[in-house]
Amino acid sequence: MSVQIIRSAAVIGAGYMGGGIAQSLAASGMKVTLADVSPEATQRSLERLLGEARDFEAQGLLTPGSYDRIMTNLRSAPSIEEAVRDVDFIEEAVFEREDVKKEVLGRISAAARPDAIIGTNTSTIPVHVLAPFVTGQERFLTVHFSNPAPFIPGVELVSGTETTKAVVETVKEMLGRVNRQSAEVADRPTFVLNRLQYVLFKEANTIVEEGIATPEDVDTIVRSTFGFRLPFFGPFAIADMAGLDVYVNGFVTAENAFGPRLSCPDTVRRLVAEGKHGVKNGAGYYGQYSKEEAEALVAYRNKAYAKMAEVLRELGPSPLEAKKNAKSRG
Ligand SMILES: NC(=O)c1ccc[n+]([C@@H]2O[C@H](COP(=O)([O-])OP(=O)(O)OC[C@H]3O[C@@H](n4cnc5c(N)ncnc54)[C@H](O)[C@@H]3O)[C@@H](O)[C@H]2O)c1
Repeated sequence: MSVQIIRSAAVIGAGYMGGGIAQSLAASGMKVTLADVSPEATQRSLERLLGEARDFEAQGLLTPGSYDRIMTNLRSAPSIEEAVRDVDFIEEAVFEREDVKKEVLGRISAAARPDAIIGTNTSTIPVHVLAPFVTGQERFLTVHFSNPAPFIPGVELVSGTETTKAVVETVKEMLGRVNRQSAEVADRPTFVLNRLQYVLFKEANTIVEEGIATPEDVDTIVRSTFGFRLPFFGPFAIADMAGLDVYVNGFVTAENAFGPRLSCPDTVRRLVAEGKHGVKNGAGYYGQYSKEEAEALVAYRNKAYAKMAEVLRELGPSPLEAKKNAKSRG
C-alpha cells in the first residue's frame, strides 16, 4: 500500500458545502479548481468565496495569510471536465439527488486522470448506490465534510467494497494537512453523524409534541448540559466517566417508561457484569485505566469544561437567546 500526496483538487458543485471545502483545501496550500452548472455560476461562486474568505480573516476566524493563499490557489474552471482534467483529488458536492450525482460522477470519472481519487460529500446516500456511477470504483469513497465546512473539523470517510486501502490512507493524509479529524465508518445510509443527529432530533420533537418542554427549553438543556461535554468527549467516553453501573440503573427507569427501545444496551450490561464500571474502577469502553490515567482524564475534563464556560462567556449569548427571552415575555 502506498500513500500518495494530494497536491491539487477540484470541487464540483460550488454551493454551500463545496465552496467551504474548496476554501479549506486552498487555504492549506493545495491548488483547487471549482466548477458548477455553468461558467457564470462558477465565477459568481468564486467571487463570493474570495469575499467571504477576506471577511473571515478580517474577523480573525481564519489564520493570517489564509485569504492570500485562497486567492492564489483557488480558480474557477469553465466546465467539470476542465476542472478535473489534471488534479489528484476531486470532491463532488452537488445536490443530494441520485440522478444529479449519477450524471456528475459519470462526467468526473470520464474526464479525470485514471489515478485521481474521487470523493463525494453526500450526507446520506450509501457508497454502494453511487459507486456504480464511477469508472474505477477502487478510487471512489465518501468524504463527508460537515456544515459550515470552513470551521467544522470532523470528516466521515466511507469506503465501498472496491475502495483500496491506499486511497483511504491518501485521503486521510490530505485531511490531516487540512487540519481535519477523520473517522472511517461502514457503508450504511446516513452513516454515523446523521444517524445520531436524526435520533436526537426526532426524540427532541417527541418531547415537544408530548408537552414536556418547549423547543427553546430543550435546546437550553441540550447545549448547557450533555452538549457542553461533546466538543471533548463522545458518548462512550462520557459513559466511562459517568459510571457504567449508573447507566444500567438509569436504563431500568427508561425502559419501564418507554419500552424496549430504551432498554439497557447489551454491551453495557456485559461490561458491568464483568466488573467494569468505567473510570471509577479502572476499566470500561476504553479498556483499562491506570490510576494516573484516570486522574489525568478527570483533570483534563475539569479544565476543558471550565475553559468552555469561559469561551461561552466571552462570546456572549447567541442571537437566538434574545428571541427566546422575547418569546417568554410574551
Ligand atoms: N448543507 C449541509 O448542511 C450539508 C452538510 C454535509 C453534506 N452536505 C452535502 O453536500 C452536498 C452539497 O450540498 P450543499 O448544501 O452545498 O448544496 P447547495 O445547493 O448549496 O450546492 C449544490 C451546488 O451544486 C451545483 N450543482 C447542481 N447540479 C450540478 C451539476 N449538474 N453540475 C455542477 N454543479 C451542479 C449547484 O448549482 C449548487 O451550487 C450534498 O450532497 C449535501 O447532502 C450538505
